[in-house]
Amino acid sequence: MNELVVVLDFGGQYNQLIARRVRECGVYCEVWPCSTPVEKLRQSRPIGIIFTGGPGSVYEAGAPTVSPEVFELGVPILGICYGCQLMAHTLGGQVTPAQADTAREYGKTRTYYDTACKLFRGLPEEGISWMSHGDYMARVPAGFALTAHTDACPNAAIADEARGFYGVQYHPEVSHTQHGVDMIRNFLYGICRAKGDWSMGDYKHTAIRAIREKVGDGKVLLALSGGVDSSVAAALLAEAVGSQLTCVFVDHGLMRKNEGDEVEAAFAKWDLHFVRVNAETRFLLKLAGVTEPEHKRKIIGEEFIRVFEEEAKKIGAVDFLAQGTIYPDVIESGAGEAAVIKSHHNVGGLPDYVDFQEILEPLRLLFKDEVRQLGRELGLPEYLVSRQPFPGPGLAIRIIGDITKEKADTLREADAIFREEMAAAGEDKKLSQYFAVLTNLRSVGVMGDGRTYDYALALRAVVTDDFMTADWARIPHDLLDRVSVRIVNEVPGINRILYDITSKPPATVEFE
Ligand code: XMP
Repeated sequence: MNELVVVLDFGGQYNQLIARRVRECGVYCEVWPCSTPVEKLRQSRPIGIIFTGGPGSVYEAGAPTVSPEVFELGVPILGICYGCQLMAHTLGGQVTPAQADTAREYGKTRTYYDTACKLFRGLPEEGISWMSHGDYMARVPAGFALTAHTDACPNAAIADEARGFYGVQYHPEVSHTQHGVDMIRNFLYGICRAKGDWSMGDYKHTAIRAIREKVGDGKVLLALSGGVDSSVAAALLAEAVGSQLTCVFVDHGLMRKNEGDEVEAAFAKWDLHFVRVNAETRFLLKLAGVTEPEHKRKIIGEEFIRVFEEEAKKIGAVDFLAQGTIYPDVIESGAGEAAVIKSHHNVGGLPDYVDFQEILEPLRLLFKDEVRQLGRELGLPEYLVSRQPFPGPGLAIRIIGDITKEKADTLREADAIFREEMAAAGEDKKLSQYFAVLTNLRSVGVMGDGRTYDYALALRAVVTDDFMTADWARIPHDLLDRVSVRIVNEVPGINRILYDITSKPPATVEFE
């Protein structure tokens, strides 16, 4: 039995990211609803509890809360953002809306830490933290000391070290907070006295056992796109239920250049049932004239399922549809109390009626780099494991506005040139994801002494370790120039190249 840390969910966007940071530190972690009964917490004997952020305000009627008995379990607690305010509010402090000129803070904020506090021990005395709060702790509860401040706010962190209660207004779990993971590690090892007895190898065995138990002798059909997630899901399922598995690859005509053939070639070498379905015409027909991004996603999600249902009928008596859904797909499609950012086609894009007994999503709680780690544990080749992500809806969400085969072909060519030049320059290895987007914007240009009125193509490249937040990549200008010249010269219909310099947030990685 592994040591357990429980993350209590108050509806923040980064909840699983907290869990993942804890796992990254070698400690097993689960996210539970904030309404979990205290008795369950007591029986599970966690070594520590973390309260997440959340969109609410602790003083509002109906705001998510916890029983005050949680503070009597004798277990160290770390409250993050809303969780910090809730701790202060519940233990007798006062939380109020911040006035605009005082302590409402968003984004990267210089923060000063008291390194005598166990949470900050061994870390620099100042650094950047990622803030996102509109409320302010006007009075901290008795027994708490102020352990960090910013230029605007005297109480960026609070601690009652005697009772093991710590609160931070910022988000240590996001990569924008310098030394955030070290603070979490201090909480786990310095405060909760963790031994660190968890690894991805454990996850593999637990996941395989859970799949076998659930599937029994049933048949499983896996939606395989050839991307990292579904390839890892394929390897995991193959190890768990081997001969009961069929992998179906649907080529919706919105793949990158040559991708369909590459996926087929990669999986042909494997010892598993692999089926390729060429479905370009039916997908393009369904998408004709559709411009709204969420509508596109829903159509693709539904059409995927219909193709799988048809394939399942051919195989006969398929009980489970498996998908390589990972955590960012789940959270951005809206989970628990979190807001919908976009419906990832394999989650929020599912139609209401699905003709399978159950959906299997064995990677649902993992982040991209954890999935890659699991892939390596499963012995997948590095070229599959380290591929850049490609979204299920494919080029449909990289063609702004309506989709036609002609536009898809144009984008495919431009995207291939971008990828080719990035690889030739060795830049691909430094980036998490990079691709081209066909904007719906047409503009005037001049070529060969003549006027053109063609599309502008946007290039996007980001660096991230979890895809929940991302920085735009500083690609060398000479390389951008080469890509721009080649695309405009080689791809008819494009006369202008734009480079996206927005991070996530406030933008997302994909345009739609
Ligand atoms: P966003 O645009 O939400 O993207 O910042 C985060 C990561 O998720 C990928 N993505 C998807 N993956 N189905 C997927 O399998 C989807 O519907 C989907 N939408 C976005 C995106 O490429 C990026 O890696």
